[in-house]
Amino acid sequence: MNYKEEILKLKSELDVVLVAHHYQRDEVYDLADIKGDSLELAKKVIECDNKFVVFCGVGFMGESAKILNPTKRILMPRIACCAMARMIDEGYFEENLKKINEAGIKNEDILPITYINSSARVKARVGMMGGVVCTSSNAFKIIKKALESGKKIFFVPDRCLGQNFAKSLNLKSAVVGDGSDLNEADIICYNGFCSVHQQFNIDDIDFYREKYPGILVAVHPECDPKVCDKADFVGSTSELIKYIKELPLDQKVVVGTEFNMVNRLREKNTYILSSTKPECPTMNETTLEHVYMTLKSIKDDKISALNEINVDEDTVKWAKIALQRMFEI
Ligand code: 13P
Ligand code: SF4
Repeated sequence: MNYKEEILKLKSELDVVLVAHHYQRDEVYDLADIKGDSLELAKKVIECDNKFVVFCGVGFMGESAKILNPTKRILMPRIACCAMARMIDEGYFEENLKKINEAGIKNEDILPITYINSSARVKARVGMMGGVVCTSSNAFKIIKKALESGKKIFFVPDRCLGQNFAKSLNLKSAVVGDGSDLNEADIICYNGFCSVHQQFNIDDIDFYREKYPGILVAVHPECDPKVCDKADFVGSTSELIKYIKELPLDQKVVVGTEFNMVNRLREKNTYILSSTKPECPTMNETTLEHVYMTLKSIKDDKISALNEINVDEDTVKWAKIALQRMFEI
C-alpha cells in the first residue's frame, strides 16, 4: 500500500489536522499540516478548529493538547512516552518534596516549575502548588519571573535544564539526593534527564574542534552543563533551527540534539555531535503506517482507545492552570 497517497486522501476527506514535532521521522514530518517544537505545537493546536487532531509526538504533548482543547479529539498514532517524562510521577514528586522539607525548606517557600516533558498528573500537582509549566524555549523567562516570588524553585524533571538555566541567570542550583546543600540553592532540581541528550559529551566537542578548526558547536539545554559550557550556542529546538539556518553556508556547525531534526536543517557543513545516530526512540516509533491506521479508524468510526488521549477532569483542571500560567508569562 502507498501510505503517503492514502494519508493525503484521508486527510482531504476528514475534519482532521495532522501535527508533527520536529523530531519525527522525515516521511511523517513531511505530511504534517502543523510542525513545530513543543511550545509552538501547543499554541497552534489551540488555534485550529478541526474536530480531530492526529498528533505525532510523545505522550506529554498529546496530553497537553487535550488539556488545552478538551472538546477536540486528540489521537496519537503511537502514545509513546518520553523517557524523561517517565522518570517522574506524583509519588516521586512527593518523595522529593519530603526531602526538601527535611532540609528545613517549607512548602510555602517553594515554587515548583515543571518542564512540559512531564505527565498531566505531575503538571496538575505543580498547578495545585501555585507552580507553572515551561518549555526549553521559554524556561529562561518563566524561571526569572518565578524568582520574583522570592521563593526557591523546585525544577522537575530535567536536572540539566534546571542547572543550565541557573548558570545563565547567575544562580545556584542543587540536585535532590546528590548530597548537595539544598538550602544554598536558588533552583533545586529533580534528578531526571533525557536519554538522548545525555549521549553528547565534551570529548566529541574536542574531536570536532580539532578536526575542523573554526567549527561552531550548538546544543540543546537538555545536554549536561559540562557540554553546554563548552558550546558556542545553547538553544531550544526552534532556537537551534533559527541559529543554524542563519549561519553562512560555508560555516561548519556540529549540533547536539535529535538526529532527524538536525539531518533536515542544512545540506552541507552540518554535523551531529555523536559517532552514533541520536534519534529519540519514542518519537521514532510513529511510522506512516501508524498514521494511516489512525486516520482510517476515524473514517470507519472505529477509533481505538489505545490511540485516544483522555485526561480526567480533576487533572485537566489543575494541569490547565499550570499551563495557562506559562502562556500568561
Ligand atoms: P522542545 O520543547 O524544544 O520541542 O523539546 C522537546 C523535547 O522533548 C526535547 O528533547
Ligand atoms: Fe523525551 Fe529526550 Fe525524546 Fe525529548 S528527546 S522526547 S526529552 S526522550
